[in-house]
Amino acid sequence: MPVHVAADSTAKIAQIRAMLDRKYAVTTELIGGMSVQRSEVHALVVKADLRVLDNIATLKRLFQGLSNVKKRIFLVDETAHLTVSQAYALGATSVLLGPLSQAKLLAELAEHVPDESLPSDARGSEAAASAGEIALASMFSAVASGMPVDVSGAKSAAAKIADCIEENGLSDWLTAVRRHHEGTYQHCLLVTGIAIDFGLSLGVPKSDLERLYSAAMFHDVGKATIPLAILDKTGRLAPQERAIIETHPVAGYDALKKNNSISAEVLDAVRHHHEFLDGSGYPDGLCGESIRDIVRMLTISDIFAALIEQRSYRQAMSRPQAYEILRGMTGKLEKPLLNAFKEVALSR
Ligand SMILES: [Fe+2]
Ligand SMILES: [Fe+2]
Repeated sequence: MPVHVAADSTAKIAQIRAMLDRKYAVTTELIGGMSVQRSEVHALVVKADLRVLDNIATLKRLFQGLSNVKKRIFLVDETAHLTVSQAYALGATSVLLGPLSQAKLLAELAEHVPDESLPSDARGSEAAASAGEIALASMFSAVASGMPVDVSGAKSAAAKIADCIEENGLSDWLTAVRRHHEGTYQHCLLVTGIAIDFGLSLGVPKSDLERLYSAAMFHDVGKATIPLAILDKTGRLAPQERAIIETHPVAGYDALKKNNSISAEVLDAVRHHHEFLDGSGYPDGLCGESIRDIVRMLTISDIFAALIEQRSYRQAMSRPQAYEILRGMTGKLEKPLLNAFKEVALSR
């Protein structure tokens, strides 16, 4: 499989080439250097400072010529939301964060299943997941830089996800998302899919389903204000780090409330998706009746998604294990809803 490497310094090119040379045929290109003839390219690896405008302009041109390449991996050492969002906006299919690691890069390349080998319904899930990720990246970058959020873009991406789950089922969605997406975007895509399937399984009216999937897409957008060093920390969080994470529901609410195309119910769900019926949640310590149905459904979907997520530093929990954990959260989640969720969790 030929791999094309584009980087903004010869040292970076040499470093990446040395990691790939033994397994792949590698072609290279210096960003801003002489234009090169590229033959057939199956995967693209990019390492460049995305804060440099010239690099972005050159990469945009490069991508025009390589738009049919299915795997586009960006290597980013700078853990800033804006850089990650910029990578996805440029067309990354995955972003590897932190110091460059040969094992991670080879694993990412090896994981790639050429699209032609997938059944056609799986290709539908992958297209919907990519659309969802682009919408999330644009939302996160807007919130991180204090710009207005493209609400209709996010809603239409979520509508595509809903169509895809209605057609192909939840399991297919979970597989596609976990195969190609990571971190907070993976989480948001999983929550959206699970919430949609929960709504479908209960037969909620279309308008409620729309509210539910919008709330799921937006629910963690406040995390754009939390440093990635805290969000993606692998070890235990210190109390002050936990306190910073717990600001995200209000940060999301604040970023979205100026937008009059978001309904009050969706805003309420963004603010309250970490509340529990027994009053032990945050940020407002709501309890019982003051937590609406849509929020209760979102909270169940959110926790379930977090448990089955694939992370580089821990094994994903199986669906039955995750459901058992939810069942153990006595007094916090609504029991009849949790019973209804069983089918979504285990068999859909
Ligand atoms: Fe959250
Ligand atoms: Fe979440």
